[in-house]
Amino acid sequence: MSNIQQTLSIIKPDAVERNLIENIKSIFIKNNLTIKEDKKIHITKEEAAEFYKVHQSKPFYEDLCAYLSSGPIVVMILEGDNAVSNNRKLMGATDPKNAEANTIRKLYGLSIDKNSVHGSDSVENAKIEINFFFKN
Ligand code: CDP
Ligand code: MG
Repeated sequence: MSNIQQTLSIIKPDAVERNLIENIKSIFIKNNLTIKEDKKIHITKEEAAEFYKVHQSKPFYEDLCAYLSSGPIVVMILEGDNAVSNNRKLMGATDPKNAEANTIRKLYGLSIDKNSVHGSDSVENAKIEINFFFKN
């Protein structure tokens, strides 16, 4: 039985800056995720604060919001079988040091904060995050 889902992916400023957009997209495509929508944008610190508000009590929140708004990012809707968990698996652990071989963060992440990609962590949050960037 297939379980088609959508999830939100973000290519973060460190990866856009290093021209890794096509490398990262090709990992999704090779692993049965279709890029339904994508756009390159540069968000404000206030928008980043809204997007990451689940983390507002964390010590890294301020730096995280400053970072996500520090340069262009690529936001994408990925679609496919179990897209939420498939994308999380392809991303690897939050800290690139702990990420499995051949995951995006292992291949390209620089540090726990500059870890190249974001991915929704549940179907429910995927809907909220997709709506945040792709309101019709
Ligand atoms: O992105 P992921 O879902 O793997 O991790 P998270 O726990 O939801 O944290 C969101 C983002 O905050 C991470 O991707 C990191 O960029 C950043 N972060 C950080 O800078 N320092 C930490 N100790 C934990 C997370
Ligand atoms: Mg998260």
